Amino acid sequence: MLGIRNFKNRIAIVTGAGSGIGRELALQLAAKGSDVIITDIVRERIDHVVSELKRKGVRAEGYLVDHSKFEEVEKFSSNFFSNSVLQCRYRRGQQFKGTSA
Ligand SMILES: NC(=O)c1ccc[n+]([C@@H]2O[C@H](COP(=O)([O-])OP(=O)(O)OC[C@H]3O[C@@H](n4cnc5c(N)ncnc54)[C@H](O)[C@@H]3O)[C@@H](O)[C@H]2O)c1
Repeated sequence: MLGIRNFKNRIAIVTGAGSGIGRELALQLAAKGSDVIITDIVRERIDHVVSELKRKGVRAEGYLVDHSKFEEVEKFSSNFFSNSVLQCRYRRGQQFKGTSA
């Protein structure tokens, strides 16, 4: 998968993962040991998939993000890609603070 062999201690972000291909990808990444962050535009779908992921024993969080809206994507991505403090906090098992629903 993606040329990456070791998925443990990695954080995977899967967009549009409330159903379909995204959900399946999230579940497979979890099965390989990744923590998983998912996004979707439907809260109920997010909650359902996050529950599925947590039942597999991985850390998982879900966020309402509409990836067709630049401002939402920018806000979401800036929290995860330019704030190493947030990533360190996540590694210590704390909740992200930032883009959420
Ligand atoms: N399912 C297939 O067999 C198949 C085959 C070939 C190509 N595709 C393409 O792959 C893509 C995904 O297919 P799928 O069946 O998983 O789709 P899907 O319709 O199940 O959508 C997946 C998820 O994306 C979410 N979503 C939709 N718009 C979004 C947005 N703007 N921001 C965030 N989340 C959003 C939906 O709420 C849904 O939960 C589509 O573009 C589809 O055309 C699918």
